[in-house]
Amino acid sequence: MSPKITVIGLGYLGATHAAAMAELGFDVLGLDILPEKTDLLSRGLAPMYEPGLEDILRRHVVGLPESSGRLAFTTSYAEAAAFGDIHFICVNTPQKPGEYACDMSYVDSAVDSLAPHLDRPALVVGKSTVPVGSAARLARRVAELAPAGEEAELAWNPEFLREGFAVEDTLRPDRIVAGVTSERAEALLREVYSTPLAGGTPFITTDLATAELVKTAANAFLSTKISFINAMAEICETAGGDVVKLAEALGYDDRIGRKFLRAGIGFGGGCLPKDIRAFMARAGELGAAEALAFLREIDSINMRRRVYMVELTRETLGGSLLGKRVAVLGAAFKPDSDDVRDSPALNIAGQLHLQGAEVTVHDPKAMENAKRVFPTLRYADGATEAAQGAHAVLHLTEWAEYGELDPAVLGGVVGARHILDGRNTLDPELWRKAGWTYRALGRPTA
Ligand code: UGA
Repeated sequence: MSPKITVIGLGYLGATHAAAMAELGFDVLGLDILPEKTDLLSRGLAPMYEPGLEDILRRHVVGLPESSGRLAFTTSYAEAAAFGDIHFICVNTPQKPGEYACDMSYVDSAVDSLAPHLDRPALVVGKSTVPVGSAARLARRVAELAPAGEEAELAWNPEFLREGFAVEDTLRPDRIVAGVTSERAEALLREVYSTPLAGGTPFITTDLATAELVKTAANAFLSTKISFINAMAEICETAGGDVVKLAEALGYDDRIGRKFLRAGIGFGGGCLPKDIRAFMARAGELGAAEALAFLREIDSINMRRRVYMVELTRETLGGSLLGKRVAVLGAAFKPDSDDVRDSPALNIAGQLHLQGAEVTVHDPKAMENAKRVFPTLRYADGATEAAQGAHAVLHLTEWAEYGELDPAVLGGVVGARHILDGRNTLDPELWRKAGWTYRALGRPTA
């Protein structure tokens, strides 16, 4: 009999993981402490925008027409413990307010709520991104609280999914990392992932600490790559070079590669920014602060790009933002997501507004989330509506639909033809030909 699976925490990671496990053929019970989330999911609706997720939910959520019935939801830990052989912990680990360290309270409370109900052999599998050393501590906690004692084990299996590609990344991961302390745990994880393993996905077994580190090191590396090219953009700005050409030429060296070398307003979201900070905080606790001191610079380069975009807008508008109308295209931290957590786009929109500009924002999917964070900005239903009368248009999240905007049509509604490309994905020639001034980070002005 296949193991039964529970997924605890139904956010970006957990909702996708639960659906994907059902798609792979397992019986799955998803748990969240928020009934509004489990209610939505029980109706086959995703609590966030993630391409393809609702299709799988509809295929498997129990009670929906023609579904496999393999996926159900609950708010009860007792029910989850009774149901599952393997329990995936997918709750979030946000940055603590006013500190670099991450807030482990959701992970701790998931373990503390589940473990006392584990009265038969069970494997608790951590997926959340946590400071190194957490898994060993949580393993002791599980053994201590579970009536099953040592029969209730813990493993660490970090998740590398990208928002916008979460379903694909979960069903066909590029690697599976299993931090385990027993052969039984490894065998169970191999069984859970037998489909991707049969498809050739590498499976790397490690100790608990290494598994935790693979995740934080990967995100630290990705952040470093983005900040590296953004630092080169700063040099291009002073030396008169073109960072887009530079990145293209660097990318042909396959030791460097083209991916994650897109210069612009930098990285945001619920992962990279808080993960590098939590990593620094943890290194400090371990007495190894120096090893990660460079991440402070990576963070500063990244945050500077937002300030620079505001300055570039001010300069474009003749030195003052006061009373100027600015259209901001994009609020999500990246395209194909409605996530505005630490979004560079929304952060820039907010700064412009606070400095006196009249900002109108459009985003294809993130409007509701953006309004919640920044209710004082104006919001328009379309890019063209947002650009009505604007003295400058800022392209800050590279949604495909913005790449298809016709500069001539948009030029007909704006107050002045100034386009600022914060993502370096629009075609400067096309916009310039239509009479716009095109400006971007790390690129020559004309
Ligand atoms: C990131 C990692 O890419 C995933 O591997 C990881 O699993 C995930 O965090 C996580 O820790 O859960 P995600 O936050 O979905 O995934 O977003 P990314 O695709 O990494 O993009 C992050 C930010 O970097 C975005 O704001 C994006 O616009 C920016 N970015 C990305 C650039 O500015 N330049 C680039 O070249 C690439």
